[in-house]
Amino acid sequence: MSETTSKFNRRDFLKGSAGVAVAGLGTSLFSTSAAAKQPTFSPGNSSNKNFWKKVQQQFSLAKGNVYMNIGTTGSMPTSVQQAYAENTELVATYPWDMQNKFGSWPYMSQMAADIAPGFGADENEIVLSRNTTDGMVSILSGLDFQKDDIIITTHHEHIGGRSPLFSAADRVGAKVVFVEIPVYTGKKKLKKQDFVNVFADAIKEHNANGNVRLVMFSHITYVTGTLLPAKEICALARDHGIPTLVDAAHTIGMMNVDLHDMDCDFYAGSGHKWQCGPGATGILYVRQEAERLIRFWPADRRPFYFVNSSLGEDGYQTMNFVTRMQYIGNDNYPAKQALADTCKLWDEIGRDKIEERILDLSALCKEELSKQLPNGTFFCPPERELSSGLTSFNPFSDDLSNSSRLTEFRDLLREEYGYTIRTTNFSIHLDDTEATYALRISTHLFHDEDDVTGLVKAMAHLYKRMA
Ligand SMILES: Cc1ncc(COP(=O)(O)O)c(C=O)c1O
Repeated sequence: MSETTSKFNRRDFLKGSAGVAVAGLGTSLFSTSAAAKQPTFSPGNSSNKNFWKKVQQQFSLAKGNVYMNIGTTGSMPTSVQQAYAENTELVATYPWDMQNKFGSWPYMSQMAADIAPGFGADENEIVLSRNTTDGMVSILSGLDFQKDDIIITTHHEHIGGRSPLFSAADRVGAKVVFVEIPVYTGKKKLKKQDFVNVFADAIKEHNANGNVRLVMFSHITYVTGTLLPAKEICALARDHGIPTLVDAAHTIGMMNVDLHDMDCDFYAGSGHKWQCGPGATGILYVRQEAERLIRFWPADRRPFYFVNSSLGEDGYQTMNFVTRMQYIGNDNYPAKQALADTCKLWDEIGRDKIEERILDLSALCKEELSKQLPNGTFFCPPERELSSGLTSFNPFSDDLSNSSRLTEFRDLLREEYGYTIRTTNFSIHLDDTEATYALRISTHLFHDEDDVTGLVKAMAHLYKRMA
């Protein structure tokens, strides 16, 4: 995942129109006047305390509470908030031409061009969407599924992906096949290949007539925080002529994603979670005009319906795929600009460094939990190649199905100890009759080692009180 070589030219991304001054990280890094300058700070590394202190100072999170639920939503950096407020005022003052602040119609082309390299994508492959759900709905409702088509997915998908999947399949009589991905419970060591194998087996079983039309999976599962080997799964699907849709809710802004290298067909993520953009922002990647649909699907299939677009079909055939998806009528341009601004800030800090920092803090969290609460159960694998910034853990191994006790634990942790985390529930095996519950901890670039050790100390103290 960590690709240390720079995927973009810094000068390119500095060309953005936001005009955001990033205090403490050098001069006005995103202002037009600063566009030609190189950043004045050198990217840090995970152990460079001063560097990460400066990064922490970019956020306005309430003191007295350590917010560790980025998996639900993130927090905008202050510089981005300020530019967002200014741009909102500008749109209210000049609604007609917005003083050309966002360029020409559809007003988001420059934003896409600015942020695409940070994700290893081309500008004509990026849609600034509303969130992960929006991206998943757009793709799943647009694909031309027909009766007896098969869609392979996993038993740990979020409702934001499952809901449009079911409605798309139900309308036409397609079949959804759930594969059981391995779930770590502390007993058996997992490898990337274990995950690839379950998809390989499912394709072998269901694609005899060549009618598996899509493989859909989360790059990071929201329930356990397991990082799936997306590149390998996409390669497998590709080898069988099957397109891929990846739920990227948790990777955008957390991991150093290189979409061309991954080579999926669609990648739908959130802008408001780990990327710390405003609410109702997301990023949707569509690989090269979705041209593999034409190659992979039967010739009589229509490649795609633009169900979530104000342009769509007739008269606009000359426009490219993402422009047609991007234009859904009037948009919140200041919000989209704020998303682009946070992306540029991340690029500047270094997405490889951010990933490394997050994984280091997550590893520390796991290490501390296993020391302080040795009888608890982890559901996130310890291996770095399967790890993310989400740590899932239940301190009460005696009853992993006890939801009320864990909910009380989560609430007391917030109310009495000042740490905000969340709970998740899931089935370990496809045929489980009872749900398993876990706490889910998010570690991000605005945390430090003290936040992590403080949280675990608080958890150990609370556990003794409740046990
Ligand atoms: C895996 C996954 N997919 C989709 C979503 C929905 O995200 P959004 O709010 O960006 O639509 C979530 C939200 O938590 C998620 O965890």
